[in-house]
Amino acid sequence: MYPLHITNNEYFFGDVKLLDIAKSFGTPTYVYDLDIVGEQYDSIKKSFDWPKLRICYAMKANSNIDILKFLKSKGSSIDAVSYGDILVALKAGFTPEDIIYTTNNASDEEIELVVKSNVLINIGDLSRLEKFGQKHPESKVCLRINTEVESGENDLVKTAGKESQFGILLEDVDAAKNIIEKYHLNIIGIHEHTGSGLYDTDDMFESINRTLNVAKKFENLEFVDFGGGFKVPYKPDEHTIDYNKFGKKLIEIFDKFCKDYGKTLELLFEPGKYMVAQSGILLVEVNTIRKTPHKNYAGVNSGFSQLIRPLLYGAYHHIVNCNNPNGIKTKYDIAGNICEGGDLFAKERMIEEIREGDILIIQNAGAYCYSMASVYNNRPLPGEIIIIKNKVKISTERLSFEKYVHKYFD
Ligand SMILES: Cc1ncc(COP(=O)(O)O)c(C=O)c1O
Repeated sequence: MYPLHITNNEYFFGDVKLLDIAKSFGTPTYVYDLDIVGEQYDSIKKSFDWPKLRICYAMKANSNIDILKFLKSKGSSIDAVSYGDILVALKAGFTPEDIIYTTNNASDEEIELVVKSNVLINIGDLSRLEKFGQKHPESKVCLRINTEVESGENDLVKTAGKESQFGILLEDVDAAKNIIEKYHLNIIGIHEHTGSGLYDTDDMFESINRTLNVAKKFENLEFVDFGGGFKVPYKPDEHTIDYNKFGKKLIEIFDKFCKDYGKTLELLFEPGKYMVAQSGILLVEVNTIRKTPHKNYAGVNSGFSQLIRPLLYGAYHHIVNCNNPNGIKTKYDIAGNICEGGDLFAKERMIEEIREGDILIIQNAGAYCYSMASVYNNRPLPGEIIIIKNKVKISTERLSFEKYVHKYFD
């Protein structure tokens, strides 16, 4: 669940001692182990045994260029959500054919840039479909369906359901077909993405079956894309999914669908979190200890601007003391360096005794952490370190305050 290990009272990622990284590169620093990304990628390939399987990494989870280049070398494709994503993916070596762009309320100008870049567009609302058809009749398009199955690890990451703003509702599929016929659009893919951290397989199969029911209404399909949402356990006691078992059942369903359809379609997934969450940690340093009759606070040199998931989703990130792996467990609130009451990485958490100067390891920080970070309070972003085959390299330098101001304000 948490891929770190302790040897001789020291925390390691593979053969790399994490305290050495903190000493050499300072903190706050994100560290990603690409071997773990590779294992996750391979495990999806293994679970879904299909001759035409395509994994489109949802780069919104983490668009670090070294992670992208690594995934390109593994044969991955890309799920992009902005023209900026497309440019970064191209820079990392992906080709336009490797990329699918899912638009949510993008501007007409952005859509034109995507069209010019020859990337396939996934459209999930009637209004955009109509505008796209007018401007680009006879084009190839992927259609995003809202299967109206509500699922996901919290309400903020659910992306389907009758009241959701995403995807074409089942009741609107006929209206979508009218637009498609009017502009002779060529629907080559059907897509769904129910939500993130999907944990109920009954829900997932319901959504898959509904997607396939829509898919059979389109004659020229080349692929069906079941989106992302693969479950990552964050809490020590959190249950996960047996993806081998899930994969076998899905392949049976998909195989039957393809036989009835008369063609072996490509099977696509868009995992983000599953691919990178566990590969990453954030190293932070404890600047202050505040003990009152009511609370024990450990105050660290990072904050919600650099890892927002606890504040945004109430997400749990496991935290351990890198300097004191066997210390006596004590109850702490881990506070960030931003003057807002919500700036807490953990509340009333039992962690090995913490002293000023200790390095804490915030785990499962590879997905939706750095990619959601900002420079709020004018604090430069953390650095990013890559570990590959137990070798350490700087991926993104942490800017000094002066360099940061020079970069953004000169
Ligand atoms: C359309 C789409 N595909 C894929 C993903 C990736 O989801 P996850 O990181 O949970 O796998 C998202 C996440 O928001 C999404 O909106």
